[in-house]
Amino acid sequence: MGIEFAHPVGVAAGYDRDGSRSAELSAAGFAFVEVGTINVTAGTGANAMLQPVVENLSCYRLRSAPWSGVHGAAIGVSLGSLREPFDAVAAAEIAVGARALAPLADYLVVNLSRPGSACRDGAAGTHSLRSALEHIRAQVDASGRALARRIPLLVKVAALPGDADPVPEGARLAAALGYDGVVSAFERWPSAESVCDRISTLRERLAGTALLAVGGVRTAETARRYLRAGADLVQVYTAVAESGPPVAYTLLAATTPPTRT
Ligand SMILES: Cc1cc2nc3c(=O)[nH]c(=O)nc-3n(C[C@H](O)[C@H](O)[C@H](O)COP(=O)(O)O)c2cc1C
Repeated sequence: MGIEFAHPVGVAAGYDRDGSRSAELSAAGFAFVEVGTINVTAGTGANAMLQPVVENLSCYRLRSAPWSGVHGAAIGVSLGSLREPFDAVAAAEIAVGARALAPLADYLVVNLSRPGSACRDGAAGTHSLRSALEHIRAQVDASGRALARRIPLLVKVAALPGDADPVPEGARLAAALGYDGVVSAFERWPSAESVCDRISTLRERLAGTALLAVGGVRTAETARRYLRAGADLVQVYTAVAESGPPVAYTLLAATTPPTRT
């Protein structure tokens, strides 16, 4: 992804939907925060929806600017569309969000994991999903050119235990289209061991693509296992929702081997 993370543990999308909690999560010690998901809906005041996030992240950026001496958490922004199917209009909606938020984000994520959506279940149809993802990549690259930096772009997909193909269609297409990473969401898996097996497979099949694993991480030990299995970064939602931002301190033990003196 080309980003230097202080360590591999961050906050998953859904907890800081509008960027208002990023400063608190950064101060607690998380290395990155995935803001959103912001579902941009064409024709219903996309600007009104995006404006609070732009304002919150602008404040965050000012507070953690290099000259302030604060090394803030990296910011990902997760974008989605409520449109069914996930078609050219959905891609255009996400491109609107990407244009508005790229200047404030270290990376962007296209959320294909929304429960009940056609794109999550692979029912979107390879052709329309492919052209939507292609369009978003091109639009994000154009924003990157205007900002004189490459903007890392990821997809978030749901990994389900019974999947016929362990690599979800969205992840496969994203890797083929030059996306920088895949956030793989493991929900309702029977054990950390089975998640680790799937992470190893994904690591092998998605070589050259950053792999972020989310789902079921409540302890430093589980985070460490996911990282050992091949995840580059791990994210938490429930742990921080239940215990609050200070849980970062407990989870950070994942990043260094235990030392006793
Ligand atoms: C109430 C709730 C809201 C969520 N909202 C989002 C969201 O907006 N976007 C997203 O990509 N994932 C969302 N998620 C999924 C989480 O990011 C994460 O993938 C999932 O909770 C598994 O991680 P955990 O076991 O650490 O909770 C949400 C989860 C919950 C429980």
